[in-house]
Amino acid sequence: MDELLARLAATPLADWMRLSRWGYAAVNALHVLGIALLVGAITALDLRLLGWRRQLPLAPLARLLQPVAMGGLCLALPAGGLLFLADPTDYAAMPLFWLKLSLIALALANALALNLGAGLTRAPPRRLAAAGAVSLGLWLAVLACGRLLAFV
Ligand code: HEM
Repeated sequence: MDELLARLAATPLADWMRLSRWGYAAVNALHVLGIALLVGAITALDLRLLGWRRQLPLAPLARLLQPVAMGGLCLALPAGGLLFLADPTDYAAMPLFWLKLSLIALALANALALNLGAGLTRAPPRRLAAAGAVSLGLWLAVLACGRLLAFV
């Protein structure tokens, strides 16, 4: 593991992340943009799953918000990987970093379980509310872990 992390840290891309004047800042901005799209769209959908504004039909709302969330995820994940590359050994030594990745995995599993299981439009209201509450809690915890990483 240590050798793999050291090899990652020695790649030209890792050097670029550490040395480029604007590189780290630009990747960080893309990470934050991805997070804004992902968590913004997911929060709106989760509130609807919890029963807020229940007069709004769920299917068309999900058709709008889920692709926005997917787009955000597709931006946040690779940008997060590049931020990690700037200092792989230090990040890998932080329990908070692994907690954040585990919470992301749980949040994605929660979303997949709902979509592949009963489905958004067929699941009973209690199942939708449970999935919405879990999702909201997990994504907010991911946000907090990501922000706290800078301080530990
Ligand atoms: C997709 C969901 C993700 C969310 C919601 C998220 C959230 C955050 C947040 C809020 C920050 C702080 C940004 C700032 O204040 O400038 C951050 C930074 C960071 N994220 Fe993520 N992140 C996600 C995915 C990832 C992944 C998959 C990785 C790594 C494989 C990652 C690695 C990092 C790193 C290394 C930092 C910089 C921490 C520092 O300042 O030292 N993130 N993330």
